[in-house]
Amino acid sequence: MESTIKTTPPERFRTGLLILPAFTGNPLPPASLVVDEASQGKLSRLISGGELGDKAGSTLLLHGLDGVAAERVLLVNFGPPDVFGDKPWREAFTAIGKALAATAAKDAAIAFDEATLPPGRDTAWALRQASRIVADGAYHFAPARAEKKHPKKHGVDKVAFILPAADKTLEEAVRQGQAIAEGMALAKDLGNLGANICTPAHLADVAHDLGKQYKFEVDILERDDMEKLGMDAFLAVARGAKQSPRFIVMRYQGDKPHKNKGSKAKSHPVVLVGKGITFDSGGISLKPGADMDEMKYDMCGGASVIGVFKTIAALALPLDVIGIVPATENMPDGNSTRPGDIVRSLSGQTIEILNTDAEGRLILCDALTYAERFKPACVIDIATLTGACVVALGKIPSGLFATDDELADELTQRGIDAGDRLWRLPLWEEYQDLLKSNFADMANIGGRYGGAITAAAFLSRFAKAYKWAHLDIAGTAWLSGEAKGSTGRPLPLLAEFLLARANARKQH
Ligand code: BES
Ligand code: MN
Ligand code: ZN
Repeated sequence: MESTIKTTPPERFRTGLLILPAFTGNPLPPASLVVDEASQGKLSRLISGGELGDKAGSTLLLHGLDGVAAERVLLVNFGPPDVFGDKPWREAFTAIGKALAATAAKDAAIAFDEATLPPGRDTAWALRQASRIVADGAYHFAPARAEKKHPKKHGVDKVAFILPAADKTLEEAVRQGQAIAEGMALAKDLGNLGANICTPAHLADVAHDLGKQYKFEVDILERDDMEKLGMDAFLAVARGAKQSPRFIVMRYQGDKPHKNKGSKAKSHPVVLVGKGITFDSGGISLKPGADMDEMKYDMCGGASVIGVFKTIAALALPLDVIGIVPATENMPDGNSTRPGDIVRSLSGQTIEILNTDAEGRLILCDALTYAERFKPACVIDIATLTGACVVALGKIPSGLFATDDELADELTQRGIDAGDRLWRLPLWEEYQDLLKSNFADMANIGGRYGGAITAAAFLSRFAKAYKWAHLDIAGTAWLSGEAKGSTGRPLPLLAEFLLARANARKQH
């Protein structure tokens, strides 16, 4: 989806589909009012007659409106003014995205109105979110190697935001939203691909190609490299897999040292670590059969890291970011790790593997230790880590754990800003007791209760050298049932976080 800003007045804008905001039971916002006047009050008559539903996201499509240059007009309800805020605003734009993806029109324009900004939000925020939401609404699964071809192409691939005036900041906001949606599309494609195609080697190829395209460094470690380093926790998971594992390291350097200030000090990068289990059968602790296909999504943390690298590289974001994706399958085999096996992690700490299905923490712990070498400003890991997190929080927020309150608060706020929310769970010392082992420094499972927390407590033992946050995205990375598919989450949150960090550095 190509998004632009235009300043032609809405009533004179030549387009296949003109989108106009409205509120429940309220006079039209200015951008819609001019069109209403041009059409001799037709819009307000229809709304008064109850033709537009009451809810945020209700729409009414009109053809050939007199006095208006557009072929079609779509009224979109932003809901009742007394409860107006981010949520109905997003619902309205989600409805707009749906309409744009389904229309027969060749192009479309959205009359953007200050009167429809949620309280406390500015136009740049709104344009970034809106251009992302409408572009994401047009996503359909069609990667080069996918089997299902989508024969019929519908919807627009061009949308204009109509504003009274444009400037650099607003143009940039639109580009940001578009780049976030493009990163999400990549993350979604990787998630939706079958594990026969989306293998560790495939993830490495995609990261490698991105690095080539956008000129950032990508290192790919293979099994023998990891053996030399001593990543035996990671390798314990990879043992049973026929697909060979990869440890993917992406280094994006956008924070050019300020030459004129004579500072040679290298900035401390943000490090993102994404779980890349391309299929989680459970290993010898085999999972039950129902819905096991969904364990192809167990690399969605890694996909969100690869996807957000596309976003930040396309935007040439002035910030240093390292992305690490430990990637392997978790499979049963004669060579697989057995329950009871004891391994030494890269950190030197030993682990008794009581359940081979608690594999995410085993690959992440070595990646967290590996991250120390970058002297990170902070490390954020992203993982479809526990079913327990879905039980605790459902599929609305991702779980957040952190050893640093400021980082936790920053991430929480960015999640709200991006409409990709987090909810923090405790990481108290008391939980560490649950990981006791008679034979190693720790066990890899913590018993029946608090599974999302004991998993995070396990990881925290490997994240002592820096500020650290852990996002459990088991409930948010994909949808099941009829809407089955990758959501691209938490890429919007990660992008919002990195954009804000880059902005803060610029201001220094
Ligand atoms: N990838 C799963 C977590 C998961 C399960 C995410 C279902 C989404 C839906 C993870 O590797 C796993 O199997 N976790 C176990 C941990 C347990 C063995 C301590 C779980 O959650 O059951
Ligand atoms: Mn598992
Ligand atoms: Zn898993």
